[in-house]
Amino acid sequence: MRATDIADQLSTVLVTEEQIHAKLEELAEQVAADYDGSELLLVGVLKGAVMVMADFSRRLPRHISMDWMAVSSYGAGTKSSGVVQIRKDLDTDLTGKHVLIVEDIIDSGLTLSWLLENFASRGAESVEVLALLRKPEAAKVEIDCRYVGFDIPNDFVVGYGLDYAEKYRNLRDVAVLAPHIYS
Ligand code: XMP
Ligand code: MG
Repeated sequence: MRATDIADQLSTVLVTEEQIHAKLEELAEQVAADYDGSELLLVGVLKGAVMVMADFSRRLPRHISMDWMAVSSYGAGTKSSGVVQIRKDLDTDLTGKHVLIVEDIIDSGLTLSWLLENFASRGAESVEVLALLRKPEAAKVEIDCRYVGFDIPNDFVVGYGLDYAEKYRNLRDVAVLAPHIYS
């Protein structure tokens, strides 16, 4: 569905599907150039990164491997605590691999900072991050993110894989929910 289909439930559309696709095209060109000649493993973080992975990986004019990880971050309320539990681990041995983590969003950065350390300890040759969205004002730790789609304001967003109570993942655009949806 498009943002126009559920306009009554949204307050602002931040990034449209067209903008996302144009950006992923750009990022795919950069990644293809940067990893020219090396094997590349894309690791998607479930479930939010499903759409980014699908649209980004298909724009790469080369072979890649793909794996997935599911993690949950525990803490008070809806905010990330930095205490991460692995719910589904990788099937791939990272030793000597060039890994590109594909993420939907960097909010506090706590989840990714944990993942980066975890991957480094498994002997990956290199670990970089591609994130479609980033909230600079929410950062609690600095993440060295090589490929960023869009910097957005510090609001809870949905769409393009991102959910509110498992809904809105199939919204094609990225938008801020209207306040009445939360209450
Ligand atoms: P941190 O704070 O660790 O967040 O960088 C990582 C994960 O939290 C989820 N997240 C969001 N999900 N709308 C969502 O639907 C948001 O605005 C949002 N901010 C964070 C997301 O899964 C991310 O990978
Ligand atoms: Mg996520």
